[in-house]
Amino acid sequence: MINVAILGYGTVGSGVFEVIKTNNEMISKKAGKKVHVKYVLDKREFPADDPVNEVLCHNFETIVSDPEISIVVEVLGGIEPSYTWVSQCLKRGKSVCTSNKELVAKHGAELLALAAENNANFFFEASVGGGIPIIRPLNHSLSADEITEITGILNGTTNYILSKMSDEGLDFDSVLKDAQEKGYAERHPEADVEGYDACRKIAILTSLAFGRQVDFEDIYTEGITKITDKDIKYAKAMNKSIKLLGTSCKADGKVYAMVCPMMIGQNHPLYSVKDVFNAIFVNGNMVDDLMFYGRGAGKLPTASAVTADVVEAARNLGNTLPILWSQDKLELASTGEFKHQFFVRMKEETSREEIEKAFGKVSYVTLEDVKGEVAFVTPLMKEKEYQQKIKAFETVISMIRMNAK
Ligand code: HSE
Repeated sequence: MINVAILGYGTVGSGVFEVIKTNNEMISKKAGKKVHVKYVLDKREFPADDPVNEVLCHNFETIVSDPEISIVVEVLGGIEPSYTWVSQCLKRGKSVCTSNKELVAKHGAELLALAAENNANFFFEASVGGGIPIIRPLNHSLSADEITEITGILNGTTNYILSKMSDEGLDFDSVLKDAQEKGYAERHPEADVEGYDACRKIAILTSLAFGRQVDFEDIYTEGITKITDKDIKYAKAMNKSIKLLGTSCKADGKVYAMVCPMMIGQNHPLYSVKDVFNAIFVNGNMVDDLMFYGRGAGKLPTASAVTADVVEAARNLGNTLPILWSQDKLELASTGEFKHQFFVRMKEETSREEIEKAFGKVSYVTLEDVKGEVAFVTPLMKEKEYQQKIKAFETVISMIRMNAK
């Protein structure tokens, strides 16, 4: 028997409990031994008929000091007490499986090293892309490749909001309100709409792809709060869609990473990823283009990924699987070197002559029902070149980057 403890009985924790219960026979066969949830830690009490009551525990000490527990699932979210508790479990040789992207982005390399020192495993498939397998493919299936690009729709809330704005012609605030009412967006949605959640996820993927610690604080991050219904109309007129993308790539030995809304064309593999779905595009120098698509959040999809980690941990008790993510910091190249086209809206008093003097040959975009402004797309140029040129204008309404694909 393999005894498991689950830290947290929230959405994901109750999902893991349910998945292990529902698919127990098959999961146990794959793990090689019966998988049994011995404890679920939560400070709350639950209704008498909730099956969790049989294993509910209020004291972390009981779990960490129980030698029968070999695998701990951490699904509390946030840095503390998760960091302290996960560290303590690993120090006692217990493997840990987590969905906690804040924890993994900040302490992933350190916790992997701690797991290795104690012949345990630290797995975090569900920390990026919910139910989409992406961490294990990067670590194992793509070990023959040098990764050249990872670009993903990594946040379901913002993808839902942008899809709704596009499909129904609504503005940001009313879609956000609707998403909150439906439970798709948090009451405090900053982490999603400001891009912080996607930032942590691309930091994790970039660290894994390039084998060194990428600090999420170093990644230029822009959310979707400034995207308007007019921007969406312009995008549609150009047969493009606006997506919040987390992207990192390697060129000339340098690694670039950023999170921002981007206009992408119909040829881009992420163009038609809608609603709460996530997708991650990966390019390897041998395998070429790959796409990973699925539910990036939600109880059972996320629990599916966590439970698969439990099975992998069970198969590898006492044997640390190597995961290349060292604590050496990877210095990211300046975003100024990133090349894009830029879609710019300016007040109508700006003359075309001034625009073309600064940017050269641009393509103008006009919409019948939008007056009082001039909108155009620049040629492909480095971000720093654009920032230098745009300084001369005091009439800028907005700018959205365009993906060159
Ligand atoms: N808030 C996240 C999202 C949940 O909307 O994608 C999954 O990390």
